[in-house]
Amino acid sequence: MKATYLTEKTQNGIDTWSIKHPLFQAKISSHGGHVLSFEPTGHQDLLWLSDSAHLDGSKAIRGGIPICWPWFGPSSGQYEGHPQHGYARTCNWTIVELEESNEVVKLKLIPQFSVKVQDLFPFELAMTISLSNELEITLHTKNKSDSAQPLSQAIHTYFAVSNINNSKLKGMENSQYEDKLTGKTETQNGAIELSEAADRVYLTDACELVLADSVREIRIGGVNHDSVVVWNPWLEGAKGMSDFDDEGYKTMICVEMANTQGLELAPGENFDLTQSFSIAT
Ligand code: BG6
Repeated sequence: MKATYLTEKTQNGIDTWSIKHPLFQAKISSHGGHVLSFEPTGHQDLLWLSDSAHLDGSKAIRGGIPICWPWFGPSSGQYEGHPQHGYARTCNWTIVELEESNEVVKLKLIPQFSVKVQDLFPFELAMTISLSNELEITLHTKNKSDSAQPLSQAIHTYFAVSNINNSKLKGMENSQYEDKLTGKTETQNGAIELSEAADRVYLTDACELVLADSVREIRIGGVNHDSVVVWNPWLEGAKGMSDFDDEGYKTMICVEMANTQGLELAPGENFDLTQSFSIAT
């Protein structure tokens, strides 16, 4: 591929694309079409990547931006028995379009599902990633069938924070959320501040969030989501995962733009889900 800012390195069948641009640096893996890092110039990485993440294609990458598609969470109904969060995060992706300028780098990627996996669902998927001082990622889904089809999905972004104990997620005050750890529905009182494990589905289409730690503020946007998932496994949860260092929970929080509330795509319908983020201060 001929490119000015992007270089490609291939190891064991997995491509890693590094982009060095005056406005930012980023890394993307072909395994999962997974954004691994995004550093606007003059700033530290906005994304958290586990020190013990598997980058060799043996499993989904822990950190960065995994794509949960065409279902979010455990499989159910017609997909019963298939892996949590679907197949997009574990298949190989290829770049089909690359546009570079002094202002922005835009990539379009498509997943290379095996025939067996592709036959499971009647959707077509593409992803666009636009990088400048902001990162914007969009999942484009098309229902190829002639009947309505359920779709759930999430852009499962792991944000880096300097210290989770001094971090606040603002913009969902008073929203209701399903607490997946207790099974209860609660109402958010004030900004979100975590002091224990959290696995919450906020039932909101709030599209202007701010993640503030003691060092910086990250502005997080979303389009076409019906929920925002907030996740941190805390110490005990981290200990239970081989690819999550015990102390790693202290410097991360997942804030995921998602469709979890029974979205159905009509025959032939196209549906785009977007998440964007940038440094606010
Ligand atoms: C979150 C889910 O989005 O992802 C959690 O709400 C889940 O329930 C977490 O534990 C991580 O999932 P996984 O499959 O990457 O370990």
